[in-house]
Amino acid sequence: MCGIVGYVGPRSAVDLLIPGLARLEYRGYDSAGVAFQDGDGIAVVKQAGRIADLERSLGKVEVRASNTGIGHTRWATHGVPNTINAHPHRDCTGTVIVVHNGIIENWLALKSELEGRGHEFASDTDTEVVAHLIEEMADLPLAEAVREVMRQAEGALALGVMRSTDPLLLVGGRRGSPLVVGIGDGENFLGSDIPAFLEHTRKMAVIEDDRVVAITPDSVEITDLAGNVVETTERFIEWDLEAAEKGGYATFMEKEIYEQPKAISDTLRGRINQSGMVSLEELGHLDERLREIDKVFVVACGTSFHAAMMAKYAIERWTRLPVEIDIASEFRYRDPVLDRRSLVIGISQSGETLDTLAAVRYARAQRSLLLAVSNVVDSALAREADAVLYTRAGPEIGVAATKTFTTQLVALQLIGLHLARVRGSIDEGSIMNLIKGVRQLPELVQQTLDRAGEIDAIAAKFADTRDVFFLGRSGDFPVAMEGALKLKEIAYTRAEGYAAGEMKHGPIALIDENVLVVGVATDSRVRAKTLSNLQEMKARGAMIVVLAEEGTEAEMAGVADHILTVPASPDLIGTVTAVVPLQLLAYQIATVKGLDVDKPRNLAKTVTVE
Ligand code: AGP
Repeated sequence: MCGIVGYVGPRSAVDLLIPGLARLEYRGYDSAGVAFQDGDGIAVVKQAGRIADLERSLGKVEVRASNTGIGHTRWATHGVPNTINAHPHRDCTGTVIVVHNGIIENWLALKSELEGRGHEFASDTDTEVVAHLIEEMADLPLAEAVREVMRQAEGALALGVMRSTDPLLLVGGRRGSPLVVGIGDGENFLGSDIPAFLEHTRKMAVIEDDRVVAITPDSVEITDLAGNVVETTERFIEWDLEAAEKGGYATFMEKEIYEQPKAISDTLRGRINQSGMVSLEELGHLDERLREIDKVFVVACGTSFHAAMMAKYAIERWTRLPVEIDIASEFRYRDPVLDRRSLVIGISQSGETLDTLAAVRYARAQRSLLLAVSNVVDSALAREADAVLYTRAGPEIGVAATKTFTTQLVALQLIGLHLARVRGSIDEGSIMNLIKGVRQLPELVQQTLDRAGEIDAIAAKFADTRDVFFLGRSGDFPVAMEGALKLKEIAYTRAEGYAAGEMKHGPIALIDENVLVVGVATDSRVRAKTLSNLQEMKARGAMIVVLAEEGTEAEMAGVADHILTVPASPDLIGTVTAVVPLQLLAYQIATVKGLDVDKPRNLAKTVTVE
């Protein structure tokens, strides 16, 4: 996820681009840059860090008033977040300038062809191929050159392009990543999102997938990839700036919950090959070592630890390797037995959690193989590891992890299946069947979100309940743990996640008619046993909400006061879908209580103390 802003009109482009970028900083903030017409050429100023750092760099250069410009704020996916990899990117001659949001899946193939034809690349990004491809089409109108790039490039792209030979022209292209046009009076804007230009105009047009838009101060022309002009529907924006930054959602957390289908698609992008087999380029160079591994350790904190719990079930089931999981802050103190045949997976969305870093550094000292799962490119955890699988969820502003959790689950499922393939522990057909299930997740999560309304009444009824237990077995256990953590952290409700079968060994003493039990019973292998445990809670007076797979409602009816359902998925894969109603339940309860869900008390998004 990155932010694009573009301007063409009579005013000074840079003066409009910088505030526009600041409004899009929620989309990414590891580096930023602008490009603007400067005499016969185009000047580019870019900088690692936040928009404020870019402004400082701009202060050091002479910026001549310019009427055309594009800017970008980056959330790295390819190439570390440094100044060279910051956008905009140029071709060999500095004539073509490109900003991009998305992932070009076939960039390596395109890059090697371009290098074969003599192009020299300055950055490690996928984006730069676009500039060099357009360089080869100097005799074509810019819009046609962008259409040709869109025909060649696979994956998700929102592009903003300018060419020094076309002053007062900006061209955008869209497939998969958002792009909108702000329509002004004698001036026009390009943006990844409305806040980029909302201060200047309330008229806009949404660019649909596989469309290219050419804007000048007085015109907006949208075409399909064949070059046919497509009619533009102008819309009027009613939102204020704050609502626009949250995409019309009440909070960032709500927005991030609803972004999960897209975030999961991005996590999967380019990691499943044409034949439907898992293919992790990031791990390829380690395959030999992965075959020699005899034990796996997974370390993480908080929500990321719940992803580790799912990983244990998945990796043990699919690879038959023993897996130990540890809360990272405890790992070093139990003197775990590690050596070079151990694989240690560190999970941290921020990649900066000190406890997790300390745990993987301990493992590094034992010469173990280190794999990181992180959402932040080039984070401390990523730098520590032998290989990284980025979750590509985009920035998460809400303190409570939502889309970073579901994308961690997906990334870990891919790692488990990659290990199974490399080690030959299950046959390829079975792996491909599981992959089929993983591929359906964006759609199934969307279906689950579409039914969010069913949760409102339950949230209203139980908002004042003081004690809640979330119970599950097997793959449902980490989901229960995460459901409880979400409720604790944003609704300040005392909630416990527990293994359903363990309640009878003590905690059942706490159960009475004032307690709510949320039973997670989506895992078909253990459903009957979970139901028996829920009956035990009901017999002691607890109120019961059951989260179950569609089609099993009749089984639940005898025990449940309320039933929530999710679409069926293969075992363990369904953890991703199952957690969504619990995120929504915590969210709704916190909202009913009038709490600030984006900034819960006492919490920090990144915990860099031990
Ligand atoms: C999640 O909602 C929490 N705020 C917290 O538990 C978090 O998951 C934990 O601090 C670990 O963070 P990390 O993934 O950035 O390492």
